[in-house]
Amino acid sequence: MAQSSQDSSVTKDGMTAAQAVDRIEAAAPPRPHDRRLHARGAVYDARFVPSGQVSQWTTAACLTAESEAVVRFSNGSGRYDADDRVRGVRGMAVKFLDADKGVMDLVAATFRVFPSHNPEGFIDLVEALGKAGTEGGLADRAKGKLAAAGKFATVLAQHPESRGALKSFAGQQAPASFATARYDGLHAFVLVDEAGERRPFRYRLVPQLGEVELDSAYGETLAPDFLIGDLDSRLATGPLSFTLVFQFAEPGDPTHDPSQAWPEHRPLIPAGQLHITARSAREDHWQQQVFDPTRLAPGVDLSDDTMVTFRRHAYSVSAERRLAP
Ligand code: HEM
Repeated sequence: MAQSSQDSSVTKDGMTAAQAVDRIEAAAPPRPHDRRLHARGAVYDARFVPSGQVSQWTTAACLTAESEAVVRFSNGSGRYDADDRVRGVRGMAVKFLDADKGVMDLVAATFRVFPSHNPEGFIDLVEALGKAGTEGGLADRAKGKLAAAGKFATVLAQHPESRGALKSFAGQQAPASFATARYDGLHAFVLVDEAGERRPFRYRLVPQLGEVELDSAYGETLAPDFLIGDLDSRLATGPLSFTLVFQFAEPGDPTHDPSQAWPEHRPLIPAGQLHITARSAREDHWQQQVFDPTRLAPGVDLSDDTMVTFRRHAYSVSAERRLAP
């Protein structure tokens, strides 16, 4: 589980975080002040109530005592005008706020496994999706579809590990609500206890309302950006909750590669409940912040997964650009 000594802002094959963001921007040209992916989102206040079931494995107080948090839900597209009614990635990012309990971010999405074992494969897919979404008239869209099909074929030839993830993703419809989707963190992290004992785990956020997909006929009656309004109106009648669940690895389970699932029968332990209460009164402030999957409280550590440290740099590049005057 040793950390690589390689500069984590550059992939093994030489792509820098800035180049990755350049390619994301070219695939779906962003509005200047938006996130380069997950552009449209809204921020909510939340409270985490621990289950007590992971306290023996970590010294992270934010996971073992009640903590204040904010949550940003998002459509995964880099286009601010992305359509919530169609299948695609949705994101849930959590920031634990109590400094005395250790600040920490969870950044999760509706993938079950990541579609690529390296950042290049992910960027290739973003480019293929960008081609598929070509704007313009019918002729342009037909051309876009052809170009996308060609690009997808190339990506799959170069990244055979993407097949399984894309197949499972193709079977997932759009969620009916941000509150009825399951969000996975995908990367392995490590819980560290008082004695320094290390236990690799992955996290997921499971909706208390269950997973409910959008009925496509009903979807036709909704606005393309219905998800945020849906959450706001559900919250008017009370909090919405998710269970933070940890999946523990067994020896031999790959911790370096988010494109490889661990067997589903690995222990799944509820770490606690995250109760989402209301739209944040400080929305503008939180929209500007970065939710960084490598921001970890003492008692939680990185694993040997280098993609997550590359993400940290890509998120900083995106933030620098979107916050530039
Ligand atoms: C090499 C892999 C990846 C790259 C290059 C990448 C890139 C990005 C970028 C540039 C942003 C915008 C950041 C900002 O401006 O603050 C972003 C946001 C986001 N990404 Fe990724 N990402 C990667 C993998 C993942 C994975 C594995 C997940 C989920 C497990 C994920 C979930 C999210 C979410 C939820 C957001 C929105 C966070 C927020 O609300 O602030 N990404 N990503």
